[in-house]
Amino acid sequence: MNRTLVTCALPYANGPVHIGHLAGVYVPADIYVRYLRMRGRDVLYVCGSDEHGVPITIKAREQGCTPQDIVDRYHKMIKDSFTGLGINFDIYGRTSSPVHAEGASEFFRKLYDEGKFVTRESEQYYDPEAHTFLADRYIVGTCPRCGNENAYGDQCEKCGSTLSPEELINPRSKLSGAAPVKKKTTHWYLPLQDYEKWISEWILEGHKEWRTNVYGQVKSWLDGGLQPRAVTRDLDWGVPVPVEGAEGKVLYVWFDAPIGYISNTRELLPQSWEKWWKSPDTRLIHFIGKDNIVFHCIVFPSMLKAYGDGYVLPDNVPANEFLNLEGDKISTSRGWAVWAHEYLEDFPGKEDVMRYTLTANAPQTADNDFSWKDFQARNNSELVAIFGNFVNRAVVLTHKYFDGKVPVCGSLEEADKEVLAEIPALRDSMEKNLEGFRFREALRDAMGMARAGNKYISDTEPWKVAKTDMARTGTILNICLQLCADLAIAFEPFTPFAAERLRKMLGVTLFAGSDHRVGEAVTVNTYKAGEGRALHTVSGEVPAPAPGEIRLDWEILGRPQILPAGHAIGEAELLFAKIEDEAIDAQLRKLDAARERIEAARKAEEARRVAPLKDECTFEDFEKMDIRTATVLEAERVPKTDKLLKLSIDTGVDRRVIVSGIAEFYSPEDMVGKQICILANLKPRVIRGIDSRGMILMARQQDGTMRFVTPAEVLNNGSQIG
Ligand code: 2FM
Ligand code: ZN
Repeated sequence: MNRTLVTCALPYANGPVHIGHLAGVYVPADIYVRYLRMRGRDVLYVCGSDEHGVPITIKAREQGCTPQDIVDRYHKMIKDSFTGLGINFDIYGRTSSPVHAEGASEFFRKLYDEGKFVTRESEQYYDPEAHTFLADRYIVGTCPRCGNENAYGDQCEKCGSTLSPEELINPRSKLSGAAPVKKKTTHWYLPLQDYEKWISEWILEGHKEWRTNVYGQVKSWLDGGLQPRAVTRDLDWGVPVPVEGAEGKVLYVWFDAPIGYISNTRELLPQSWEKWWKSPDTRLIHFIGKDNIVFHCIVFPSMLKAYGDGYVLPDNVPANEFLNLEGDKISTSRGWAVWAHEYLEDFPGKEDVMRYTLTANAPQTADNDFSWKDFQARNNSELVAIFGNFVNRAVVLTHKYFDGKVPVCGSLEEADKEVLAEIPALRDSMEKNLEGFRFREALRDAMGMARAGNKYISDTEPWKVAKTDMARTGTILNICLQLCADLAIAFEPFTPFAAERLRKMLGVTLFAGSDHRVGEAVTVNTYKAGEGRALHTVSGEVPAPAPGEIRLDWEILGRPQILPAGHAIGEAELLFAKIEDEAIDAQLRKLDAARERIEAARKAEEARRVAPLKDECTFEDFEKMDIRTATVLEAERVPKTDKLLKLSIDTGVDRRVIVSGIAEFYSPEDMVGKQICILANLKPRVIRGIDSRGMILMARQQDGTMRFVTPAEVLNNGSQIG
């Protein structure tokens, strides 16, 4: 395979990206791409904003602007965040672009013309007040599984269940609040069941090496049997369905979004995009989160298969699980997240620390948690205390004793040989881990090199040796500097800003073409950390190094004497700085404020949720009820029950007993002496062996708690209410 096409899930442009997105998709993809580029592989790295879909229209409605305003705002914000974190796509496009509209329409049209779709008439929810069909997300109601009163028609965010609008209890339209009604509509469906056998052979037989979470999800979808999947929607935001008679319909966002990968490639390379998408020489890798697995392993491949024309299929889909934040599920809608753009503002110059922490805690095989204390510890105890400390000591001592020139390496002692032998072994392991998408493990290998260096300099104590033996000091520092050069290569994928600072300190450059020899005609990937767009290919001959230029590349990692004796290194600069408690406390305070906002919003929502009015009744119905004031004389718990109180009351007419289910809300002492209202003529019932005559009037609040109703002033018992 000559080429690797790396795609990252297109983030929805309805909010900023957060650390969950970064850990799940973008940081691992960037590590992989940087590694491949260092090896001189031909890589294309494609992403862009996903600018269609219902949540964007909901947000626009809420904010009183157009969906285009929303996506313009977030597209820019997301793009800048990626750039700020050193995630440099070859193109970061957008699905609202004309190239995409054209590409997605053409894709649909070909499948339509070739009869690859089936149409189905179905009954969909319709808002009779807003006169529009309602996408699942526009319908809210009570979750039948957990009772969450704000579950969406497609999903309950509280318990995570996938739902259909039919399952919601008391469904209501998000637009008007009206109860939705069913109305007939026709849509196009891709008959996924026709591709079932083919997918099973391709993935279940052919890709047993895929991550178990991905393989397992595909298997369970296939085991459950695939169904036709609608590829159009009744909506006014999206790519219009390019067929006569389809007015008011657009392509379903999950039909057009993956085509966005292709459109963005076409946008970047209008002449040569097909070589990336339609050549057997291309290895396609989709980086995604676990919620996207079905779309990238089943739906999009089926679309490509239906289209034909030699489109490549993914060679691997290294999907990650989810990252939680301080123990709670990250949620854009609830505002529980660490946003990339805020992080970049709050921690300028610390892009690498977040990349490092998210990789060290990558949710590769199971959900994982991000905490600010862990972030601080990763920085202070690992990046600063190990990696940074080692490099600093090596560079400072070289300036102190050898005038900033790499000293000569004399004969090697056992400790020298040992540390030098560790590097190639760690490099091999790192290479295997990177090729196998195990980035957490690969980072551990890189950190292993830094640890080895730090231990070596601490054990050999060149600052002490310098008092008696300059030659030995030179050998130790020579070895330390070689290890620093190794680190400047090994950390390039993980902490590219620090790796660049380190290369500057060592007076070396990075060459991303190590698979090729000088003079060979190749396409070489060149790029710079921190640049908005990578210069992804430079065709021509691999240039010879400039005189005195020392080029680092992947191949020389772990080789002896990368830096020749006498080479002048640059000034010492701190690779990483300590993060103080104040900075972490400020973030924790931000999260406390977010928690408070979430709780307040929950309460406000709860308060809004008043029980719907009951069916009309007549005055005669009401007249039948004998409601009176009464006073509680005695109260006690009904034995062996949690909820029942036995109340003896004076009704003004008689003394009687009422058993009431209020023990959850009142203790017996609370009730004695209270004036209450009762339904006096309710048919008597025996409850737990007690003859209960009547019912106490209680008000049920939105949060489910109950309070008894009492007259505004003390009245005579037996006064009739009505
Ligand atoms: O889940 C998401 O955030 C989607 N916007 C991902 C789309 S990936 C691709 F298919 F475009
Ligand atoms: Zn639920």
